Amino acid sequence: MPTDLSVTIGQLQLKNPLILASGILGDKPSLLQRIIKAGAAAVTTKSITIEKREGYSTPIIIATDCGYINAVGLANPGIDKIPDLVNSVKLVKGKVIVSIAGSTVSEFLKLAEVARNSGADAIELNLSCPHVKKHGLSIGMDSKLVHKIIQVLNENIEIPIFAKFGISDNYLTSCKAAEDAGADAIVLINTIRAMKIDVWIKKPVLSNKFGGLSGPAIHPIAVRAVYEAYEKINIPIIGVGGIYNWESAVELMLAGASAVQIGSGVGIRGIDIFNEILLGIKKYLMENKVQKITEIIGLAHEERKLQDL
Ligand SMILES: Cc1cc2nc3c(=O)[nH]c(=O)nc-3n(C[C@H](O)[C@H](O)[C@H](O)COP(=O)(O)O)c2cc1C
Repeated sequence: MPTDLSVTIGQLQLKNPLILASGILGDKPSLLQRIIKAGAAAVTTKSITIEKREGYSTPIIIATDCGYINAVGLANPGIDKIPDLVNSVKLVKGKVIVSIAGSTVSEFLKLAEVARNSGADAIELNLSCPHVKKHGLSIGMDSKLVHKIIQVLNENIEIPIFAKFGISDNYLTSCKAAEDAGADAIVLINTIRAMKIDVWIKKPVLSNKFGGLSGPAIHPIAVRAVYEAYEKINIPIIGVGGIYNWESAVELMLAGASAVQIGSGVGIRGIDIFNEILLGIKKYLMENKVQKITEIIGLAHEERKLQDL
């Protein structure tokens, strides 16, 4: 029997567990299409706000030895462009998760309604941008507000709702609040607030001074966050952070992720990364005599031993 790579996140069925992470390729429909053709089961759009945003002035992204630090400033084309983004992915038969970033409950609802009406397969709430005030981490750290936003969306929106969090002292409390309010999945993790200083100019490099660190540097932190959340909540987790090869994808699934998102890895390895990871995962499953990929989810936890398979 061929290896079964399909996974299900709430009502969202994916032919394999690989998803493009939000924001990595900006908001160009043609780039989203290329990612589906390159093997990803789904793409996540750039986080969309009600109004179009130009973002910060350059420099907005800098490469480090172990990943990127970015402060794009949530540059995006605004709510009116959601239908175009969704349609372009549908044309190539991919699944599309629309990431939305509101600053109030009603903004989140308005964005979610447009995404749903456009035919999105799921909605991801960006509750974790580390470098934009009123649009990110400050919302995700407020578990009461998280509960309120998701409860309202849950009452009004039928498609799956994913809540994306970053690392904060109380991210597990926010994950639990999202689950209690009816979220279909948790996405962990967003970038981690960081800074790069130019030693010759003696000033921070990014125009915003602070940015979000992504890439291999944050992978062990993502593994820890997914592992901890898996012990605390009972809805699926989508793991993201520093995936750059099949081992790092499998590691997040063993920690408890039902699917994984790839962001900086696309910049580091190119779009072939999706196919390379799929091939590596298939080989790994065959060598371990595992027929369905879902059988490895959470296997690193003590209560889930190989003999459970
Ligand atoms: C340039 C850039 C832009 C990003 N924009 C968004 C965004 O709009 N919304 C969001 O939720 N995450 C955004 N992220 C975070 C990624 O989706 C992801 O959570 C993070 O980069 C960790 O994954 P990675 O190490 O595979 O890149 C962005 C990351 C980068 C590098």
